[in-house]
Amino acid sequence: MISKTEYAARRKDLMSMMEENSIAVIASSPEKVRSKDTLYPYKQSTNLSYLCGFSEPSAVIVLLPKRTQGEFILFCRDKDPLRETWDGHRLGPLEAKNTLGVEDAFPIDDIEDILPGLLEDKSRVYYSAGKDKAFDSRLMHWVDEVRNNRSGEGRFPCEFVDLDHLLGELRLIKSASEIKLMRKAADISAQAHCRAMKSCRVGLKEYQLQAEIEHEFMSSGANGPAYTSIVGSGNNACVLHYIENQATLKSGDLVLIDAGCEYQNYAADITRTFPINGKFSAAQAAIYDIVLAAQEAAINTIAPGVNFNQANQAAIAVITQGLVDLGILNGEVETLIASGAYRDFYMHSVSHWLGMDVHDVGDYKVDNHWRVYETGMLLTIEPGIYISSNNSKVEKKWHGIGVRIEDDILVTKTGYEILTAGVPKQRDQIESLMA
Ligand code: GLY
Ligand code: MN
Ligand code: MN
Repeated sequence: MISKTEYAARRKDLMSMMEENSIAVIASSPEKVRSKDTLYPYKQSTNLSYLCGFSEPSAVIVLLPKRTQGEFILFCRDKDPLRETWDGHRLGPLEAKNTLGVEDAFPIDDIEDILPGLLEDKSRVYYSAGKDKAFDSRLMHWVDEVRNNRSGEGRFPCEFVDLDHLLGELRLIKSASEIKLMRKAADISAQAHCRAMKSCRVGLKEYQLQAEIEHEFMSSGANGPAYTSIVGSGNNACVLHYIENQATLKSGDLVLIDAGCEYQNYAADITRTFPINGKFSAAQAAIYDIVLAAQEAAINTIAPGVNFNQANQAAIAVITQGLVDLGILNGEVETLIASGAYRDFYMHSVSHWLGMDVHDVGDYKVDNHWRVYETGMLLTIEPGIYISSNNSKVEKKWHGIGVRIEDDILVTKTGYEILTAGVPKQRDQIESLMA
């Protein structure tokens, strides 16, 4: 759990990065209608969650550094006994003051009257545009209103600054309590992958493995999947974000599962690939071993001070060499790397940040240079080789083999720690778990 003190420290850190005389406005995610009065499951904006842990929709938080009457203001839904009978408990502005450490709280319906006043005389507005077009235009309207009503010198507010960049910097380095939650998300997800390996049988449907995985997530206290679970058997494994999950599992095929849970707002992201009948064929083993070696080489680059691109370069070198050794690529390894020949088989990057979002916030480059790792960063390492049956350039024996291996890695003071080591990835370990 993230404590009230930690939320307050996060807001303080953000406010210390803001320029003098500025305001930050952070809106909740909009709700999405599925049909009539039925909504899609609600997912709070992770920026808003990060700053105060409030999970209700129709909320806006406002940060006003150095404001004497209070720096942290919340607009939220008012109490409403009828709506609460249908949709569940609402915190309401009064209770929000006690629970969330808010200095001022108002009903969201009053925002039109109050927010323009808070914008007055502020020279900068920190805001993440583009996530909710309706709220973007309301905010622009309020800003315009303030500018138009102003007489005399200046036309404040005059500058919009992207809040995502500042929050990305903060969210990129995980605190001890965040790492604890991510460890838990990783452990549950690893157990879920073990369960899928153990319950895999020829003739099951892909969605039945998905059910095993997601049962383990939720029965272990996770909120559910952090992204739609990918269960791709045979050639489906060559579709990078395959989510149909309807096919029948066939003997002689591999199945690729890319699934991770969300635990108390933090995501895990694991991929394992294993033989449906419990034994890797020679061709599958050959490809699998290249991907595993590429993953190990990429993971081994990780340490504070090393740049983000090293891991991808390490994976590309191992994959290209491996494909040449198998006769799938032909030519000089260095030339093939330079020409990007591996991209026919490995067409994504090896890594992304991981945190409250599965593809988490944070810049990958600083001043156009690859970012270097710092202690407390968390990322995935996930190379793959995908040989679709449409690929006419390679022998048929390789067709329909898609392998990705993905783990979640914490950058430590001395190097790294693999948080998802609880699910095996060596071929013999997988075969014995499945036996
Ligand atoms: N699960 C999506 C990814 O691995 O990036
Ligand atoms: Mn990933
Ligand atoms: Mn993944």
